[in-house]
Amino acid sequence: MKTIAIVATGGTIAGTGKKGKTAAYHAGEIDIDSIIETIPEINEVAHIKEYQLMNIDSNEMTHEKWLILKNNIEEILSDDTIDGAVVTHGTDTLDETAYFLTLTLNTPKPVVLTGAMRPATATSADGPFNLYQAICLACHGESYNRGVLALFSNTIYSGRDIEKVNNFKIDAFDQRSLGCLGYMQDQEVYFYTQTSKIHTIKSRFNKRIDSIKSVAIAFYYSGADAKILYDLASDHEGIVIAGSGSGNYSQAWLKAIEELSEKGTIFVRSSRISQGIVFDDEKDGEWYLGYISAARKNNIVSGKGDGSFGIGEAISRQDAAVILYNILKNNGLSNDKGIDFADSDMISDYAIDAINVLSANSVINGVGDNMFSPLGRLTRAEAAKLIFESIKYIK
Ligand code: SIN
Repeated sequence: MKTIAIVATGGTIAGTGKKGKTAAYHAGEIDIDSIIETIPEINEVAHIKEYQLMNIDSNEMTHEKWLILKNNIEEILSDDTIDGAVVTHGTDTLDETAYFLTLTLNTPKPVVLTGAMRPATATSADGPFNLYQAICLACHGESYNRGVLALFSNTIYSGRDIEKVNNFKIDAFDQRSLGCLGYMQDQEVYFYTQTSKIHTIKSRFNKRIDSIKSVAIAFYYSGADAKILYDLASDHEGIVIAGSGSGNYSQAWLKAIEELSEKGTIFVRSSRISQGIVFDDEKDGEWYLGYISAARKNNIVSGKGDGSFGIGEAISRQDAAVILYNILKNNGLSNDKGIDFADSDMISDYAIDAINVLSANSVINGVGDNMFSPLGRLTRAEAAKLIFESIKYIK
C-alpha cells in the first residue's frame, strides 16, 4: 500500500456552520484529523500521514504562505517512504495555488489539490468524497510526473489550467476550452489527456525561492483610469495587464504603460478573457532573438507598451530617435536646446529628451514646415542620414 501525505491548509472542506446547512459557515475551523475520521475507507487505499500546515480561509493565502507550502511539500516528498501528497485548500484561490505549485515544485511525485464547496457540517458535504478521490488519484501510477493535479467532483484537472468558474455549485471548477485531464468513478482513475506545458521538475522556476517579487494585476474595463497603473507602479516591480479581448486597453493606458516601462516597471500583457490566446510576436528560434536580447541588455531598445516588440513593423520616427539617443547619449552630444517643432505636443513623453538632444546636435531634423511627425515611418533615405550623422559621434 502506498503512503500519501495530506497537507492541510484549511478552506470550506475544514469549515463548520449550522448543522446540516450550507450557508453562513466559517472556513478553516476543524483539523485534518477530524475530516479523515469521517472517511474510514481511506485506510483501505493508502497509509496516511497528516501535516496541518495552516488552517485558513484561502482568501488569506499570501505569497509567503505559498513559499511555506512549496518548501514543506518538497521536504515531505523528499522522504522515500512517501509516494505522493494531497493538499486540502479553500476553493476561492485554489486555482492560483495550483498554478504556483505547478511552476515551482521540484518533484515528479503526484501532488493533488482538492477542497469542498460545502462545509464539513453540511448535509451531504462534498469534502470527504473529494478527499477520498484525491488520495486515490495520488496513489495512481499514471499520476506520476504529470505536474500538479486537482480533483473536484469526479473530475481531474491540471494545476496549470484549472479555474474556479462557479461560486455556488459543487461542480465549481473547469478548464474551459481545454476540457479536463480525465475523470474518476469512486476510486477508479480514467486519464484522457495531459498538459504539454512545462511543469514541476522541468520548470525553470523550480529552484529554491526565498521571496516573490511584488507584481500586481491591473484589470482593464471601459473607462478605467490610467491612474490605477501609476498607483500600482509606485509599489510594484511588475504589472500584469488583464486587458479586454486579446489583451487590449485604451490609448490613455497605452501612454501610461509606455511612460512607466521607460522608468523600469515591467509589464506583461494578458487578457481578462479566460479562453483564447494572447500572442507574443517574438517567435522561438527566429534569427532576430539574439539581436533584440543584446540590444535590450544594453538598454538600447525596449518593447512596445502593449507587450509586443513589433517585429514586422516599420519603425516610427520618434522610436528611431530614442534608439539612436540610447546609443549616442554617452558620446559627447551637447545639451543645447533642440528644435521647437510645431507638432511637439504629438511627441510621446518617452521620446521628448531624445528628439530634443538629437535635433540640437543635428543628428535628426524635422520633415519640413517645422514639423517632426513623430509617428511617421522612417524612410530608408532618412535612416541613411541618421546613420551618417551618428557615426560622427561614435568613438
Ligand atoms: C476558502 O476559499 O477558503 C473558502 C471558500 C471555499 O473553500 O470554498
